[in-house]
Amino acid sequence: MAAREKTKQAAGPANVLLPSDAKRKSVPVWFARNAGWLREAPLTGAQKAWVEAQGFKGGAGKHVLLPGPEGTLAGAVLGLGEERAGDPMDKPALAVGHLASVLPSGCYHLADDLGEPELAAVAWGLGAYRFRRYKSGNGEETAAQLKTPRGADHARALSLIEGVWLGRDLINTPASDLGPEQLDDASRQLARKHGASISSIVGEDLLAKNFPMIHAVGRASDRPPRLIDLRWEGPGARAGARTVTLVGKGICFDTGGLDIKPASGMLIMKKDMGGAAAALALGHMAMAAKLDLRLRILIPAADNSIAGNAFRPGDVLTSRAGKTVEIGNTDAEGRLVLADALALADEEHPDTVVSFATLTGAARVALGPDLPPFYTDDDDLAAEIAAAGNRIGDPVWRMPFWAGYEANLASPVADMNNVTETPFAGSVTAALFLRRFVRQAKRFVHFDIYGWRPALKPLGPKGGEPQAARAMFEVLRGTRAP
Ligand code: BES
Ligand code: MN
Ligand code: ZN
Repeated sequence: MAAREKTKQAAGPANVLLPSDAKRKSVPVWFARNAGWLREAPLTGAQKAWVEAQGFKGGAGKHVLLPGPEGTLAGAVLGLGEERAGDPMDKPALAVGHLASVLPSGCYHLADDLGEPELAAVAWGLGAYRFRRYKSGNGEETAAQLKTPRGADHARALSLIEGVWLGRDLINTPASDLGPEQLDDASRQLARKHGASISSIVGEDLLAKNFPMIHAVGRASDRPPRLIDLRWEGPGARAGARTVTLVGKGICFDTGGLDIKPASGMLIMKKDMGGAAAALALGHMAMAAKLDLRLRILIPAADNSIAGNAFRPGDVLTSRAGKTVEIGNTDAEGRLVLADALALADEEHPDTVVSFATLTGAARVALGPDLPPFYTDDDDLAAEIAAAGNRIGDPVWRMPFWAGYEANLASPVADMNNVTETPFAGSVTAALFLRRFVRQAKRFVHFDIYGWRPALKPLGPKGGEPQAARAMFEVLRGTRAP
C-alpha cells in the first residue's frame, strides 16, 4: 500500500513536464509529415537506413526510435501524416500528446520548431495522464519527461495540465469513492490551495435554505445531497472586475432514479459529475493564472438513487425560483439540480454564468463524444468560444436555444415539465429548460458535455475528460473576455 501511495505521489504533472532549462540530458524528437522528410532529415546515414528498414513513412501516430552508436537511444521521430486541411485537431503541437504515451522512460526535447510551443507542452502533459489509483505495482507504463519547449511558459502550461488531470481523476474515481461529500472535499482542497472561500449546504438544510429540487433528486441516497459554493477574487480584482459564476452538474452516480436506466446506459454513470469536474478544472486554471475576476463555482452534488423516498414520475416540485416542475422522467435529474443552482447564481446578477453538465444522451447523438455542443444567446461570445476551442484542441460546437421548442416543455399541471413528449432535440430542450432559470445575468453559456473519452487519443487515454474547461479558460484569459 505504501508503495502504491508513493507511485501516485511521483506521478504529478510536474514530473512529466520539466522546465526548459532542466539540467538533464535529453533525447531529441523530430517530426515527419511524409517519406520525403527522410531525405532532408538531420540524421546519420545509419539512422536513415534504420528508419527506412522500419518501414516508417511519417504516417500519423507512427513513431520510430533512433539508435545511437553504443546501442543508446539517440532520438525519436513522430509521424504527423499528410495535413488534413480544416481539421483543428490536426496540428503538430497536439500530436505531441501521442508521444507521451509511446516513448520509453527518459527525458526528451522537441528538436523541431512546431510553432505553438505552449500548446505542445500542454498536449504532452495531457497525453501523459494515466489513472493509476487502483493499480497495484508500478504498472507497465513508462515515465517519459519533456523539457518545456522554448517560448512556452512552463508554469502556465503546468497549471492547465493540473486542471485537466484533476478533472479526470474526479471523473475516473468510481462512485463508491466519490460521493457528494468527497466532491465537496475535493472542492475544499482546491479552495485551500488558492485561498478561496468555500461553504456547503447539506441534506435537510437544502430544504430550509430553499433548494428543493437538489434535495428531491438526492434524497433517496444515504449520502446526502449538497450545494457546494466556492468564491475567489483575483489579486487585482478591482471594484469593476467581471463576475463569472461556473455551475457544474455534480451527479455522483445516475441510476436514472425510478425511471431506471438499463445496464448499458448506467455503466459509465460515475461520470455524471463531469460538469462539476470541468468547473473545478477551469477554476484551478483561472485561479492559478490569477485572472482579474470574481469567480464563483456552484456545484449541486447528489446521487440520483432509488429508494422508497425517491422522487417519482408525476411529482410536482417547486423550484428555488418559484416555478413548479412536473416530473416527466426522473432520469432528467441534471436539469433539476442545475435549475436551483442557476437560480442562486442569478440572484447576484453576475456578468457571466457558465454551466457545464453531462446533461443529455441526445448531445452525443447529434455531435458524438468528441464535440460537445454549447448554447448562448451572445453571438460574439459564441464565436470566441468556438475559435478558442479550435485553437487549443478542446473543440466545441454552437447549437441554438431554439425558442420554437419552448412549447415542448409545457405541462398541463405545472409551470413546466422536466422532459418533452417527443424524443427530438433533447439537448436543445434541456438547454432551454436551464435558460428559464437565468434571468438577471448578462450572459449565459451552457456546455452539454460527454465528460468521457471513449478511446485513447493523442490528448489522453480512455476515461474521464473535463471537456470545454480549457476552451473556456482560453476565453476567460483573453482580452475581450466576458
Ligand atoms: N446523465 C444523463 C445524460 C447522459 C447519458 C450523458 C449518457 C451522457 C451519456 C442524464 O441525466 C439523462 O439521463 N438524461 C436523459 C434525459 C431524458 C430522460 C430526457 C437522456 O439523455 O436520456
Ligand atoms: Mn439521468
Ligand atoms: Zn444525469
